[in-house]
Amino acid sequence: MRTQVGIVGAGPAGLLLSHLLHLHGISSVILENRCRHYVEERIRAGVLEQGTVDLLNDTGLGERMRREGLVHHGIELSFSRRRHRIDLSELTGGKAITVYGQHEVVKDLIAARLAAGGEILFEVADVAVHDLETDRPRITFSQDGKPQELVCDFIAGCDGFHGVCRPSIPEGVLTTYERVYPFGWLGILAHVAPSSEELIYAHHERGFALHSMRSHEITRLYVQCDPHDDIKNWPDERIWQELHLRLENDTNWKLAEGPVMQKGITPMRSFVVEPMQYGRLFLAGDAAHIVPPTGAKGMNLAVADVRLLSRALDAFYVRGNRELLAAYSATCLRRIWKAQRFSWWMTSMLHRFDHHSPFEQRVQLAELDYVTGSRAAATSLAENYVGLPFED
Ligand code: FAD
Ligand code: DHB
Repeated sequence: MRTQVGIVGAGPAGLLLSHLLHLHGISSVILENRCRHYVEERIRAGVLEQGTVDLLNDTGLGERMRREGLVHHGIELSFSRRRHRIDLSELTGGKAITVYGQHEVVKDLIAARLAAGGEILFEVADVAVHDLETDRPRITFSQDGKPQELVCDFIAGCDGFHGVCRPSIPEGVLTTYERVYPFGWLGILAHVAPSSEELIYAHHERGFALHSMRSHEITRLYVQCDPHDDIKNWPDERIWQELHLRLENDTNWKLAEGPVMQKGITPMRSFVVEPMQYGRLFLAGDAAHIVPPTGAKGMNLAVADVRLLSRALDAFYVRGNRELLAAYSATCLRRIWKAQRFSWWMTSMLHRFDHHSPFEQRVQLAELDYVTGSRAAATSLAENYVGLPFED
């Protein structure tokens, strides 16, 4: 088999890259080791930045998102038993976020690729990348037990944090920056109407909690937990109890309960590799970087990466211009490091750290008081939360 760009991974990065390349008239094939149902039902991120929404709309992917997505103009921060609203739109000249599940974006992308005749090979195995230093890199894999080979001009490693592309880069090429947090998030999806119109990020002495949603009928909730804890230790009653304690405060506001449809524990880390390229292999999304979820940046960063990669590949094919490809990694990393900073800052401000001294606890509360009391500080949070402008 032959294609211009071989893409490993059918997550948001790989699928959107394939779609954007198609709009530029560039062919691609996506290789995914899971089945279509699995990738379409995998519950992950839920907040789309303004720029992500605009990009999906501008490239013909926004029809269902406009109908079903929930546009939010603010978020709430809860601490010291009080809630404070950050008016995102007022502070950012009208920008907003849209709550629309990552798996819904994935469904829309798969539908769009297949409708346009795009090739996505699901349930392939033994994916390996070769000849990355040449101008004919190859991907080998097996399909239905038969060995196959895809010869490409370029390979996009969009295979997430546990993928094969990043580890295929020879030792010594990449520099890794990493921070592992001493906590994780236990997330549930509950069949109950959201109890608040907006997201609530709660700082509490028992640990962080987040009230989010997926629709008018489905609530998404998280509590800070031990990252090594077994989900079996968290019967539904215990989860609801923690959520009530951490989210409810002095007002009459009550969190509504409903049947738990799904639950799981996610560890938290900050991770970046530099550079995001080796020869003709380009990494994008979680394959190159991970953020703790507190800033809601993971999927949005993946979108920003492939937006740049598609433009750079277009410049190469249409004008023979290699400069954008050469600049890909450095251009992406400027945004990535700012998102890393923001995600680390939100995480540090909102979570309980067992090792914190009483002094550090007071400083944390002062930070929350400052962010909710100062227009300058609130504006900084808001402009990062709705998403910094895309790079040119
Ligand atoms: P992925 O979505 O991981 O896609 C990679 C794809 O590659 C997958 O489909 C995978 O099956 C495939 N793949 C992997 N290895 C191979 C292989 N060897 N061969 C072929 N295919 C392969 N972000 C938030 O902002 N908020 C959240 O609440 C949140 N929750 C998360 C929960 C979990 C459990 C995880 C893992 C991530 C979460 N994130 C969250 C982060 C966000 O979902 C990611 O940043 C986003 O999925 C990145 O997209 P991606 O396409 O780069 O990677
Ligand atoms: C959701 C996830 C996040 O990480 C976040 O910061 C806000 C919302 C969510 O899954 O809805």
